[in-house]
Amino acid sequence: MIVSEALQIRRSCRAFKPDPVDRDTLLAVLGAALCTPSWANSQPWELFVAGGDVLKEINQAYLENQRKGVQPSPDLPRPKNWPASINARRQELFSGLSLAAGEAAKQFGELNQKFFHAPAVIYLGMDKSLTTWSVFDLGAISQSIMLAAVERGLATIPAVTLVHYPEVLRGKLGIPDNFSLVLGIAIGYEDKEHLINNFKSTRRPLAEAVSIKGLE
Ligand SMILES: Cc1cc2nc3c(=O)[nH]c(=O)nc-3n(C[C@H](O)[C@H](O)[C@H](O)COP(=O)(O)O)c2cc1C
Repeated sequence: MIVSEALQIRRSCRAFKPDPVDRDTLLAVLGAALCTPSWANSQPWELFVAGGDVLKEINQAYLENQRKGVQPSPDLPRPKNWPASINARRQELFSGLSLAAGEAAKQFGELNQKFFHAPAVIYLGMDKSLTTWSVFDLGAISQSIMLAAVERGLATIPAVTLVHYPEVLRGKLGIPDNFSLVLGIAIGYEDKEHLINNFKSTRRPLAEAVSIKGLE
């Protein structure tokens, strides 16, 4: 598979089949992704994978927190305000989702809460003293993971909801207190029957997103 094909195929999967992902396949995905560049080759990422009963326990603890009304407290706080253009694109995402998935779009929140029924989640962490410079590197490795997954017929979704309760993750996965949890990537096999997966998000036109000067 060529890279542009993988870039086109990758999209966020919001409903997975229960089929497990085997350990060797997961390690092959993560091993390939470790080629990702980072500032001064700092490789600031710490990757924690949960599957099987461990992931079920994490999900139970999240659901319990939600039931009790515990507010999510991600280590990277949610921005309070967004510029109008970004807000408009968020609105577009939800209206597009409703159009493509119909009634299934209403399951968006519940699927997030249930980790999209994924058989495994990769959590990306970094030392708490690090800054946005390293968040950039974690973003880069996230895309590498997702593309390496595509090559192996796996689907993914990067989701901040997966790191809404970092204390639960630290407890269940034995993650030291000095690590922030930045993002979760759910990974598994796409449930092609689920209508929420009908949705394909759009992109800004090239001419709007890119400005070039001095090139013919
Ligand atoms: C950093 C990050 C966090 C995200 N968090 C969530 C999330 O919590 N829940 C969710 O359903 N999708 C989440 N997404 C998926 C985006 O909504 C999705 O990438 C975007 O709409 C583009 O669609 P595509 O991934 O299908 O191309 C997240 C994506 C990124 C990159």
